[in-house]
Formats: sequence, structure tokens, C-alpha cells
Amino acid sequence: MKVLVATEKPFAKVATDGIRKIVEAAGCELVLLEKYTALEEFYAAVASADALIVRSDKVTQAVVDAAKNLKIVVRAGAGFDNLDLNALSARGIVAMNTPGQNSNAVAELAIGMMIFMARAQFGGAGTEIAGKTLGIHAYGNVGRLVGLAGKALGMKVIAFDPFVADKAIFANDHVEEVASVEELYAKSEYLSLHIPATAQTKGSIGYALAMSMPKGATIVNTARKEVIDEVGLIKAMEERADLKYATDIAPEAAAEFAEKFGKRYFGTPKKMGAETAEANINAGLAAANQIMLFLKEGITKFQVNKF
Ligand code: 3PG
Repeated sequence: MKVLVATEKPFAKVATDGIRKIVEAAGCELVLLEKYTALEEFYAAVASADALIVRSDKVTQAVVDAAKNLKIVVRAGAGFDNLDLNALSARGIVAMNTPGQNSNAVAELAIGMMIFMARAQFGGAGTEIAGKTLGIHAYGNVGRLVGLAGKALGMKVIAFDPFVADKAIFANDHVEEVASVEELYAKSEYLSLHIPATAQTKGSIGYALAMSMPKGATIVNTARKEVIDEVGLIKAMEERADLKYATDIAPEAAAEFAEKFGKRYFGTPKKMGAETAEANINAGLAAANQIMLFLKEGITKFQVNKF
């Protein structure tokens, strides 16, 4: 059995070494396709693969068409909006993610970006985040870690997440659950985004929510660029010279944000949320283990598609 790791943005070597160990110990072969620049390279490599590990690499209909032997694809990470689940399901290919494995890295980056913005991008006098209200938009693995870190740093933490089944988590964490997304934004001096990009969330954060935020508010996006209505956010930031936006995912209008808003805007040079050795090891090894459990024992824990 052949396991392909196809990563435009490679894992740290320590992670690929660990993946290789797991794959080879199970008697399988590991093929690495890193930093590929043409999709044709991906199509050619996936043609003979039984299993595939990717990061944000897009697994499209064309990839599925090229992957004649593919049985399973694991997105080493949380968000699986890069997988064409319909195409995979139609072929009976199992799709999985590795929830929680890179959460701490993303949460630390969100906190770091918050402080960076509060301190005038380390280029002048700023403010402190202690005593401010931090809103967590979606209280999943990452959102919860950001909330708990915010609390440890002296922030008042509020959250909105209608998908949390066990509401006791908010009380246990001493985090106030607010009743609506509108209430969340209206109260948040710092707003940390952790919603996935879905048909419901795409373009859902824009003018009205940004305009409702308290004076000097900052939105921190370590989730997905697609959830932002960029035209609406730009309009709000033009009308309110106190609003700030920091993002780990380059907006479509990155140049416009940078040109119009100077130090009120910050974008990482490339997506850095999961770029730690620890996150690469956790997510990469989890992906390899999940593949082996599936190929050897048919275990489908963490499957995200149905067929
Ligand atoms: C995720 O969904 O897990 C993160 O966005 C990390 O994405 P990356 O593997 O492309 O860095």
C-alpha cells in the first residue's frame, strides 16, 4: 500500500520522519510530494496512492479522478473545506480530519496577534489586553484554548457557539455564553474568529457586525478568509478609524487593506497558525495513525463524509 503526503507547505522534517516510521512499520510505502508548484505533479503522484495526507492542499474532483486506487484521505488539521467531499463520497473514499491536533499552535498565534495589535504592532505605545472583553466566535478546540488563555491574561471572556452540545463547558470555564452573534460582536473589544468556512458562514462577518463593535475593537482571524465579507469590513474600517483587523489568512483584498489601514491592519506573510513543530508532529502523526487504523482494521473514527 502506498501512502502519499502531498503538501504545498511541507511538515517539519521531524513530522515527516515520524509519519515515515508509522507507515513503514505497517509494511506500507511512503511517498513525499512537497512544495509542488504544478497540480500535474499532484495528479501524477496521487495516481498510484492508496492513502493521501494533505494540509490545506485542495483535493478536487480532478485529484479524485486521478487517484484510481485511493481509499482514504486525511486532512492533517481541523478545517476540511479544502476537500471536495462530494467527489470523494461518490467514489467511496473515506475523508477524515485530525481535530484538536494543531489547536494549541493556532490558539497561541491568535493570542500573539491580539497582543501585537494592542501594542501598535510593537512599533509604538499601545494598550493592554488585561481587563478587556474577548469574544470567542465558535467555542471548539481552538476557541476554547484562546478563551482560557485570555482568562489567564486577565480578560473578560464571552463566547457564542450554537453548536456546543454540552453547555456546561461555558460555566466550567467561567466563560459567559452570549445569546447571539450580534451580542457577541457588540460586546467584544477583541474578537477571535474560530468558525469554519461553510455555506452558512461564508461572507457572514462584515459591515454590520464590525460597526457594532466597541470603540477600538480588533478582529483577529485565524480561521478562514472566506468567512469575512471583505467589502463590508473595508467599508466599516473606512468609516471607523478605531477598528482593527489582524488575519493569518491573506484576504483577497490584502493590498487594499494594507494600503488603506496601515497599522490598523496586519496579515501574516503566509498562513502561520499551524506552523509549529509540535502541531506538525501532532497532526501529521495522527493522520498517519488514522490511515493505518483504517487500512488495517477498517476504523473510521474522525470520518467527515458519508456515503
Ligand atoms: C487547520 O484547519 O487545521 C488549519 O487551518 C491549519 O492549516 P494548514 O495545515 O494549512 O497550516
